[in-house]
Amino acid sequence: MNILGINAYHGNASAAILCDGQLIAAVEEERFNRVKYAAGFPSAAIRYCLKEAGLTPSEIHHVAVPRNPYARLATKLWYALRMPSFARERAKVLVKFTGIPEALAGVFDWDPKKLLAKFHRVEHHQAHLASSYFVSPFENAALLSADGLGDFASSMWGTGTGNRMRIDGCVAFPHSLGLFYSAVTQYLGFLKFGDEYKIMGLAAYGEPTQLDAMREIVSFDPRSRANGFRLALEYFTHHRSGPEMSWAEADKTPTLGKLFSEEMGKKLGAPARAPEAALEQRHRDLASALQARLEEVYLGMLRKLAAQTHSKSVCLAGGVAFNCVANGKIFDATPFEDCLLYTSGRLLTRQDLKIPEIFAQATGLVPAYPQAYNYSSYAHVRIARLPMQGLGLRKVLEWAYPGWDEAFDWSLLLERESFFVLVSSATATLLFLLLRAYLGWYADQRLKIPRFHFREHLIRAAATFFSTPEIER
Ligand SMILES: [Fe+2]
Repeated sequence: MNILGINAYHGNASAAILCDGQLIAAVEEERFNRVKYAAGFPSAAIRYCLKEAGLTPSEIHHVAVPRNPYARLATKLWYALRMPSFARERAKVLVKFTGIPEALAGVFDWDPKKLLAKFHRVEHHQAHLASSYFVSPFENAALLSADGLGDFASSMWGTGTGNRMRIDGCVAFPHSLGLFYSAVTQYLGFLKFGDEYKIMGLAAYGEPTQLDAMREIVSFDPRSRANGFRLALEYFTHHRSGPEMSWAEADKTPTLGKLFSEEMGKKLGAPARAPEAALEQRHRDLASALQARLEEVYLGMLRKLAAQTHSKSVCLAGGVAFNCVANGKIFDATPFEDCLLYTSGRLLTRQDLKIPEIFAQATGLVPAYPQAYNYSSYAHVRIARLPMQGLGLRKVLEWAYPGWDEAFDWSLLLERESFFVLVSSATATLLFLLLRAYLGWYADQRLKIPRFHFREHLIRAAATFFSTPEIER
């Protein structure tokens, strides 16, 4: 069975192909048209996927699209009445979605009637969760998707068991962690689509002095059983006018309209920073507070999810789950022991690398990786491989403490980085001693200059001090 997945008319337009359950190719359109975060219809990505799989369009059995216009229909209709201009914009995008079979046939200059594939609309966050869980090695896992907005929801969580996902809850529009982060990113003068990662980096240079203000902007109760959060909407505009987005054209980077209101400036004590204005310490502090609040809510949601699902593994997806600073704290801040982030890769632990298959798979991704360097001979240099093998010292140690080699975790001392430091510092010491000995010999034998021999003077002084003076008669 051949399944084609298409992410179209959305940031990071892309395509993926699965043949009989195996992922053959997955690629973003921006790799072909060199437009960052390219939206529109991923024609080149689809052509590439089919070429890689060796398929013609008529051999595709199913096409999945990560958007379902019927999901949260009541909420969508309610906001459509309140925001007619936004509703008109979204309606245009939905019309484009209904034309996906024609657009797909157009990629290959085919007649749409010749396409035999069945088209499926998958709700946005369910598609996110599936993209993470169904490629994970877990039989059972907690699932969390968090992003700006998709199908009028911003977060979704549940459980994955076997080949099934159970959805336990979601946070619907207008409350969104992703839009909160984007709004403060814009307030800090970073207006381009996808600039959030710069603010995550900037946060490291500040102190979260405005954390209390951030807590008022996003409320989250870590003690309640409810997994969601709420935005204080007076600081935002997207619930009044709708988030203004443009991502219909493939040759343009998407744009996002202004998300924060004037109240945000009043709350944070200063007007928004203009993109060309200098970055001051208060901007760094604000970025730090934003990142700290995101971590409180994101890690808090994960803690609740761990308690609800009793699972040790978690699969994450969505734009918020790309915040690698927050992800780096998951193992310390939550009971989860295994984590899979999107399809971009698995966080490998030292224990994982000890398994030869996983090690081979991981190093197989590194171009021209020398196959002779396996885990035991390269990532961990064992004491048995050191030159002391041939020396008598090893035999003495064996005699004095049988099994000493296995009893110690030498890996900490002898990992390749620290082993390099060890060898280079030993070499530097040896060179210094050789130079010192040569200079001493040169001064004594050639120049015949009297030298101050500290060690000899010290011994003589000590001997004189402790000896009884002889009194000559
Ligand atoms: Fe999304």
